[in-house]
Amino acid sequence: MDDIREKLRKAMSHERFMHSMRVAELAVMLAKQFGADVKKAEMAGMLHDCTRDLDLRQALIVANKFGIILDNVTKNSPGIIHAVTGEAVAKHEYNIDDREVLDAIRYHTTGRAGMSLLEKIIFIADYTEPFRDFPGACRARTILKDSLDGAVLYAMESTIEYLLDKKQLIHLDTVDARNYFYLVQS
Ligand SMILES: [Fe+2]
Ligand SMILES: [Fe+2]
Repeated sequence: MDDIREKLRKAMSHERFMHSMRVAELAVMLAKQFGADVKKAEMAGMLHDCTRDLDLRQALIVANKFGIILDNVTKNSPGIIHAVTGEAVAKHEYNIDDREVLDAIRYHTTGRAGMSLLEKIIFIADYTEPFRDFPGACRARTILKDSLDGAVLYAMESTIEYLLDKKQLIHLDTVDARNYFYLVQS
């Protein structure tokens, strides 16, 4: 774990590294609260943004290097593509072979229908880590005290509203995730 942390420290900006450590710390707390594997939560939290500092052109090169076929939304969205390249880099450059950890990295931005407990924890830890100060993060933290699924649903809906407002692309996985949690909650 320490060697991964040190490798990450060198591979990303200081701000990104500190964000990753806060997400890992919160993910550990949430794993304890909701009964997930603490070690996997820490690992996925640390690594979730391991390629977030790449720009879109660099991310496309990484995706190509690992033979990843990208859909049209992903290849045009730096905010989404880094989750796909992050999974590949975690696997091939940080030697992570745990499917649950890799999936938690892969789906930490879009979410998806039927998310695993670990996927939900990393998604919401990223959304609510202590330095997140937008109003949605505060509301999600409040909901999280009672319901992980409720907090993820809220975050999905807020994200979709935000993306529409900013005229950005919305990945179908996010729509699927929102509908999935809407139905689970109702
Ligand atoms: Fe991210
Ligand atoms: Fe993040």
